[in-house]
Amino acid sequence: MTQLSPPPIKPFAVEWREGFSIGIEQLDREHRHLFSLVLALNLDSVGQTMEKLLDYVVIHFSDEQNAMDRSGYPALEQHLRLHEEFAAKIADFLVTGDDWTEERVQELRRFLNKWLIAHIMTHDMRFGKWLANESKPH
Ligand SMILES: [Fe+2]
Repeated sequence: MTQLSPPPIKPFAVEWREGFSIGIEQLDREHRHLFSLVLALNLDSVGQTMEKLLDYVVIHFSDEQNAMDRSGYPALEQHLRLHEEFAAKIADFLVTGDDWTEERVQELRRFLNKWLIAHIMTHDMRFGKWLANESKPH
């Protein structure tokens, strides 16, 4: 009987879609870029892509927090903590120093996608709605 090789892992990766839009052009553009970086993660270049991704996360969080600060968003402090928790979670994941395998890259993509989607759809969306309401003439 011939030995079957294991089927290749189907990458778990999600593309940014219109439904993720929080209605703030710059932040939507940055979110889209984050998704594209997660999508680009693969075993051959995971180190470089993670470096780019972490740099971009720092820029994006700071842009988002500035937008919240400028507009006087009341939940800024709470939001800041969520961003910090995320950074800590990634650090925990990377610090194990285990060798990269297809499974581990997959786990990373899954974690990043899940966090991004949940965070954007709940917390960033809340800010987008709040801002849209604030800028309406009263
Ligand atoms: Fe956020």
